[in-house]
Amino acid sequence: MSVIELEDVIKRYQSGVETVEALKGVDFSADRGEMVTVIGPSGSGKSTMLNMIGLLDTPTEGHVHLDARDVTDFSEDELTEERRTGIGFVFQDFHLLPMLTAVENVELPSMWNTSVDRHDRAVELLRRVGLGDRLDHTPDQLSGGQQQRVAVARSLINEPDILLADEPTGNLDQDTGQTILEELTRLKEDENVAIVAVTHDDQMLDYTDTTVRIVDGVIQEVAQP
Ligand SMILES: Nc1ncnc2c1ncn2[C@@H]1O[C@H](COP(=O)(O)OP(=O)(O)O)[C@@H](O)[C@H]1O
Ligand SMILES: [Mg+2]
Repeated sequence: MSVIELEDVIKRYQSGVETVEALKGVDFSADRGEMVTVIGPSGSGKSTMLNMIGLLDTPTEGHVHLDARDVTDFSEDELTEERRTGIGFVFQDFHLLPMLTAVENVELPSMWNTSVDRHDRAVELLRRVGLGDRLDHTPDQLSGGQQQRVAVARSLINEPDILLADEPTGNLDQDTGQTILEELTRLKEDENVAIVAVTHDDQMLDYTDTTVRIVDGVIQEVAQP
């Protein structure tokens, strides 16, 4: 069953007197344990689509379903709560806080949660991405690939159903990018999360279960290699 679904989503942006239709009736879904890669030219609507899936923005028309619940009309507070508990984010430029150690960065999104032992889970996640010996290093003491592995561990701290990644290998060399993709593939299975990634990186297509091509706000192709 799909954990996230966009149903006939239209997104219009108003800039001055001009209206841009960034998404023109998009249907999309992703399952737990599935990696979906979204590709398409610049300006085609990839980030807009990721923002809809991540509940960072709401559609002009159409519906968003999370775990079979229609969340389209949720309030800002309700969406924040869904994001916090259900969705992890990984960014191209890592977005780690420079003054915090690796383990503190991983713990950060679970600050509000008193019911789990956050520290133990953070340590466990860092071990799983091969950073068990880097727990107390700050980002400037880590390589780009290591920083991205910290970011991947952080995205999983609240046991999300969905992991969203915007160009996760964009700032990494090819070998390091490959390591991150192998890590994501393993965690996808271990944690049973849906991964939705936007990328320009062709090597990502070797790891993906489903490729979605979007052009000019319209999904042109869905391929399962
Ligand atoms: N906040 C915004 N205001 C106005 N237009 C926007 C905004 N965000 C995106 N757009 C427009 O929507 C279209 C899709 O943008 P985007 O989703 O960022 O594409 P991509 O990520 O594929 O490069 C583009 O024409 C872009 O200029
Ligand atoms: Mg974009």
